[in-house]
Amino acid sequence: MKIAVAADHGGFALKTQLAEYLADRGHQVLDVGTHSADRTDYPIWGSRAAHAVVDGEADLAVICCGSGIGISIAANKVPGARCVVCTEPYSAQMGRRHNNANMLALGERFVGPDMARAIVDAFLDTGFDGGRHEGRVALLERLDAGERL
Ligand code: RB5
Repeated sequence: MKIAVAADHGGFALKTQLAEYLADRGHQVLDVGTHSADRTDYPIWGSRAAHAVVDGEADLAVICCGSGIGISIAANKVPGARCVVCTEPYSAQMGRRHNNANMLALGERFVGPDMARAIVDAFLDTGFDGGRHEGRVALLERLDAGERL
C-alpha cells in the first residue's frame, strides 16, 4: 500500500521511526512532512496528510504529534478524512472495522515505539466490516458535505 506519514515536531521522531518500519514492511511511504524537529504547527501536517489520502495520493495515513490529538483534529477537518487516535491496537482494529478509518494518529508522548508499531500493524492488517456500518459511514460523508442530520 501507499501510506502517507506526517508529524509536527512533537511526533517527528516517531514518524521517522514508523516511516522506516512501513518501508521495511514493503509499503510505499509518502512523507508529507514536517522534515525536521524544529517547532511547527500540527494543523499544517495533519491536513496535508488528509489531503493526500482524500485526493488518492495515498491509501491510508499514519500521523503523529505529541498526543496524537491535535493532528487528528486537523485531519478530521478535511472532508473525507476519518482519523482515529489510538493508544492501543484494539482501537485501531475497531476504527478500521466499524468506521472505515483511513488515517491513524499516534502520540509520541503517549506510546513507545514498540506499542506504536503494534498499533500500526493492527490498523494496516484490518479491513472494513461493511454491512451495517456502510450506512453510518455514508452518514459521515453527508456531514462532510455540510449536511445536517
Ligand atoms: C506540541 O507541543 C504539541 O502540542 C502537539 O504535538 C500536540 O500534542 C497537540 O495536540
